[in-house]
Amino acid sequence: MRFFIDTASIEQIKEAHDLGILDGVTTNPSLMAKEGISGQANIKNHYAKICEIVEGDVSAEVISTDFEGIIAEGQVLADIAPNIVVKVPMIKEGVKAIKWFADHGIKTNCTLVFSAGQAILAAKAGASYISPFLGRIDDTNWDGVQLIHQIAEIYAIQGYDTEILAASIRNSRHIVQAAQSGADIVTCPLKAIVGLLNHPLTDIGLARFLTDHKNSNS
Ligand code: G3P
Repeated sequence: MRFFIDTASIEQIKEAHDLGILDGVTTNPSLMAKEGISGQANIKNHYAKICEIVEGDVSAEVISTDFEGIIAEGQVLADIAPNIVVKVPMIKEGVKAIKWFADHGIKTNCTLVFSAGQAILAAKAGASYISPFLGRIDDTNWDGVQLIHQIAEIYAIQGYDTEILAASIRNSRHIVQAAQSGADIVTCPLKAIVGLLNHPLTDIGLARFLTDHKNSNS
């Protein structure tokens, strides 16, 4: 399973990259706004900066909701760097655009996926990735992990090439569950990635090793 970071923060992207485990980045308009990035020129510059740090795919989301707008915006984004993936919402015009981008060799990430039916439609249109929002499904008292399982099973049966990018990851446990459910990629906040390191027995064990070493060498 590949690891993407779900942020527009350059600092956090660098930190995950320095850890040596980063395969890509996803952003969305909310994450860009959180970093105070606005205006087409600034947004383009920001994506260019991210693409200089990360070799893997970087998802850049369109804000248009009509076919022509999505295509025009997506082409501008795709021109920023070869590793830009155009992130398109799961709406009727979005599905049409995903098909157009697939036919023109531009990679896409179909976002805001909340059902297996949506996942089938996106795969059929030729999406490179789909982003089921695990955490937001859990928020509504449904089972986000179960959806990842279901989509993975369907894609395997049908032989779809579209990759499952588990999104809206809220904690380290979600990462483990996504891996177990057949996600190809997880996109996570830095905190959830770093949280995978934690176990109290590791801390206790290391402290004991260091103490024993110190005592036998003094
Ligand atoms: O990038 C989309 C997704 O990961 C958003 O996550 O935590 O806002 O539901 P969240």
